[in-house]
Amino acid sequence: MTQAQAMRFKDQVAIVTGAATGIGYGIAKRLGSEGARVVLVDVDSRVGEQSASEMAARGIGTRLVAGDVGEEATADRAVAEALKTWGRLDILVNNAGLGGRTANIWELPVEEMDRIYRTNLRGVYLFCQKAIPPMVERDYGRIVNIGSIAGKEGNPRMVPYSATKAGVIALTKAVGKELAKTGVRVNCVAPALIQTKILDQFTPEQVQYLTERIPMGRLGEIKEVASLVAWLCSAECSFNTGAVFDISGGRATY
Ligand SMILES: NC(=O)c1ccc[n+]([C@@H]2O[C@H](COP(=O)([O-])OP(=O)(O)OC[C@H]3O[C@@H](n4cnc5c(N)ncnc54)[C@H](O)[C@@H]3O)[C@@H](O)[C@H]2O)c1
Repeated sequence: MTQAQAMRFKDQVAIVTGAATGIGYGIAKRLGSEGARVVLVDVDSRVGEQSASEMAARGIGTRLVAGDVGEEATADRAVAEALKTWGRLDILVNNAGLGGRTANIWELPVEEMDRIYRTNLRGVYLFCQKAIPPMVERDYGRIVNIGSIAGKEGNPRMVPYSATKAGVIALTKAVGKELAKTGVRVNCVAPALIQTKILDQFTPEQVQYLTERIPMGRLGEIKEVASLVAWLCSAECSFNTGAVFDISGGRATY
């Protein structure tokens, strides 16, 4: 890695949702290690505080906004925190997501669909709405939405998850086109199975089913996702918008 690549986000300010743990925390640390100041957003304030302290101890400018991404007020507070503390907003990573219960659609109450929708799609919608105006004002921004291979292929016994992740992909394509003539790029990442705590939400049989679909025969690592997302958050990502980037060990090839 060259020195220039190592500080790609010097002076920049990022919001990362679902950043207390897992992929979100990995992305927040990666952006911070390359110079970004980061607003961590998470509904889990206890783990969020620990993660924010760990980042601050590494010398990374960090703020925590504790709240549910499905609440409009949380998105308002996160954007306000970035602007009040550092006066700018360059990057938004919509990462907060729930896997949900593993069951057939006829076995799930509709409330499960509402619960997953609220975090996985309504949250992305709200954060895009609130973050875009200050980005457009400066004619620069990078938005990365974390989708899933489930949103492309449709995983059985994961209907709310698959459907809401398909929504994230379509939202990315539509918003990317809306902003294509500006300096704001909007892209989506579609991971297959990555080793995080989200796997605790699935049955062991479901984890085995999903792992068997990965031609590389292994789960992805958080740092592999963070590396791709960091490039999508950088100024180097200039001719891509409304695009979906697979990170799936060969599972999706389209
Ligand atoms: N791990 C995988 O295999 C995998 C695969 C494809 C896509 N993804 C996606 O990657 C993203 C991160 O997943 P992960 O594996 O790191 O999950 P995780 O469960 O390890 O972490 C998710 C984080 O989001 C937070 N969160 C959940 N709901 C929230 C809400 N309403 N408001 C604010 N914060 C909330 C949680 O507290 C947690 O800190 C999700 O969008 C997930 O769907 C994960």
